[in-house]
Amino acid sequence: MFPERVVSGMRPTGALHLGHYHGALKNWVRLQAEYPCFFFVADFHALTTHYDSPNVIGENVWEMVIDWLAAGIDPQQSTLFLQSRVPEHAELHLLLSMCTPLGWLERVPTYKDQQEKLSDRDLATYGFLGYPLLQAADILLYRAAFVPVGEDQVPHIELTREVSRRFNHLFGKEPGFEDNAKQAIKKLGSKRARLYSELRARYQEQGDEEALAQGRELLEDSQSLSLGDRERLYGYLEGSRKLILSEPQALLTEASRMPGMDGQKMSKSYNNSIAMREAPESVTRKVRTMPTDPARVRRTDAGDPARCPVWQLHLVYSDGPTQDWVEKGCKSAGIGCLECKQPVIDKILLEQERFHERAQPYLDDPQLVRSIMADGCDRARKLAQETMRDVREVMGLGYD
Ligand code: TRP
Ligand code: SF4
Repeated sequence: MFPERVVSGMRPTGALHLGHYHGALKNWVRLQAEYPCFFFVADFHALTTHYDSPNVIGENVWEMVIDWLAAGIDPQQSTLFLQSRVPEHAELHLLLSMCTPLGWLERVPTYKDQQEKLSDRDLATYGFLGYPLLQAADILLYRAAFVPVGEDQVPHIELTREVSRRFNHLFGKEPGFEDNAKQAIKKLGSKRARLYSELRARYQEQGDEEALAQGRELLEDSQSLSLGDRERLYGYLEGSRKLILSEPQALLTEASRMPGMDGQKMSKSYNNSIAMREAPESVTRKVRTMPTDPARVRRTDAGDPARCPVWQLHLVYSDGPTQDWVEKGCKSAGIGCLECKQPVIDKILLEQERFHERAQPYLDDPQLVRSIMADGCDRARKLAQETMRDVREVMGLGYD
């Protein structure tokens, strides 16, 4: 089928905080060693909610990309780019919109939720309703296999799969597909060809999933097939269609348990966050003034970590022995709160040293990030153009 690509995007919100790092970026860094990864700045998506303050978007893009690089995203391994610089995102969004039922979009849970949450803005727009379809286009444009996202985004990935399935169903019937598939079967060699046909019949006539899996395996092992023939045979195995777009899966990022400085979830809008590249003095001050278990009014009062946001930080940053030390010391009033906070401060500062180090060359020379993004846009665009060639053709727009 398609190579196992990973695609994910982030809206440009400016400098990222430790919640973004532990919640998403750390995971991206891990994935880039395993798969071809495409990470992009979702600036079109930012406009769906902030179309009336465009200046904010431009300023935020570069800051955010520097944070990606600071986290360890490697532009040699991953392709980094800007959504709006690959105009095929807009084109695929438009073409998918032709065959996406309105009800599918109205039913996406974030649609009504966000409209209520962001009630200070007028979100009764065409663009806002289309937000998840634009996201589907982002993903399908690269025929992604996996999309690392948080739980709140899962309905969008579900929609993406439905849109893709419907698209393949509507447009995946290339003329002469049946004949082409039969020709391709012959290229498997007689023994494999017979096995393939048997497995296909078992799946199609009896719905035998095991046969489907075996058939796919057989194709995977058939080195001599061209990419086109292989794709054709994958499609033929399941039905009589060609797969134009992939059906991607969400890779659920474990919910970040990073607490903000007030114990609520760390979030820029709550004003309780520590930026990835915050100055050390400011980090120290923020943690030192963080509220603790309200029962510990005096140093001699015993406390309970379960009622203290600082404990949540220990869960992210501290090893077992340190956590034991906190539990015992807190419950027996053996340690003071400032003493308890120090190992967390040390760990955050240590982690941030790497961020500052990695970011420095990009701060010294702003041109570097621009050129990384320009290269990434070129690479992404090549792939996007391949997909669009197929999409245009099957939708009857392939004039040559
Ligand atoms: N909607 C996503 C968010 O708010 C951002 C996004 C846009 C995205 N396009 C995407 C994420 C494609 C994954 C894949 O977090
Ligand atoms: Fe919180 Fe640590 Fe103070 Fe206990 S000792 S209340 S865990 S900061």
